[in-house]
Amino acid sequence: MTISTNDSEQKTTRPRVLSGMRPTGRLHLGNYMGALYNWVKLQHEYECYFFIADYHALTTDYADTSKLKENKREVLLDFLSAGLDPKLCTIFVQSKVPAHFELNDMLAMITPLSWLERVPSYKDQQEQLREKDLATIGFLGYPLLQSADILVYQASFVPVGQDQAAHVEITREIARRFNHIFGRNLSEPFPEILPEPNVMLTPSPKLPGLDGRKMSKSYGNTILLSEEEPVLRRKLKGMVTDPARIRRTDPGNPDVCPVFDLHKVFSSVEVQAEAAEGCRSAGIGCIQCKGWLADAVVKELAPIQERRRYFEASPDEVEAILEAGNARANERANQTMREVRAAVGID
Ligand code: TRP
Ligand code: SF4
Repeated sequence: MTISTNDSEQKTTRPRVLSGMRPTGRLHLGNYMGALYNWVKLQHEYECYFFIADYHALTTDYADTSKLKENKREVLLDFLSAGLDPKLCTIFVQSKVPAHFELNDMLAMITPLSWLERVPSYKDQQEQLREKDLATIGFLGYPLLQSADILVYQASFVPVGQDQAAHVEITREIARRFNHIFGRNLSEPFPEILPEPNVMLTPSPKLPGLDGRKMSKSYGNTILLSEEEPVLRRKLKGMVTDPARIRRTDPGNPDVCPVFDLHKVFSSVEVQAEAAEGCRSAGIGCIQCKGWLADAVVKELAPIQERRRYFEASPDEVEAILEAGNARANERANQTMREVRAAVGID
């Protein structure tokens, strides 16, 4: 595999897309289906910027940063393994592009406190993460920094899950206020310095974890993108099923079985049909059904894991990809900042 950092393929006028992910460690199937899988497709159609939001990780995890460096490395490897191609998109780290913070601070001047206080995730997260002290400016400013992330690329589309839609909405409001206040400093025609971005809702299938609840690192019920085959098979074997199907001879109901929810995402329609029929008629046992699922997941992950092995063995190449991405991101962000400084009157 040769990775060129030549960017001629992306010097086009395709609409710009930006999205980011907090570095939480190795990604699981839920992270993959909810974001990366979609990003990999988008890179062929849009001018894409994808980044690791390390400052966003700090907003909640400032008290313990011991894992941050390793987590960033793992997420980067997962980005590349999943198929993000540095020839097609720009991959970078948020903290390496200072313009995010410069714009964040300029936007802070015009953003009413009340707008940030009423973002639903602010109070929700504070309640859910009781053990952490989140009464900080940084945490309150989470959506503001996210707005700066987006606006500093003048991005048109932001592919995110439903849980992030409110953050894109506040980004639009902040952009509108910025344009209203500072746009009049510039000459005609009244320019949209910071275009209002659109949310691009990621079609994400419901992905249950091993215990039937939503797959999530905090529940410890995940299957990793980099999960080794024997571990993957063992984990799936222990996954919860239709609780009413106790004995092998009991017929089951795939409609209430989390294993079958995964079949719907990863298995062919033929296998799905066979599993559903076999379940309802007690023609197959759960172990067999889970074996078929494991086959499908292993097959889906094979090319991803092959790329991971390649990149794990090529740290210099990974480093070069990131440096080129950081440089390209800086270039694009600085272009916006020149317009922003001129509009604000601070250059
Ligand atoms: N808040 C996002 C999440 O938790 C991550 C993120 C940070 C992001 N900045 C962004 C997503 C900008 C889209 C655009 O998933
Ligand atoms: Fe679930 Fe498959 Fe068992 Fe039916 S046979 S209960 S779908 S694991």
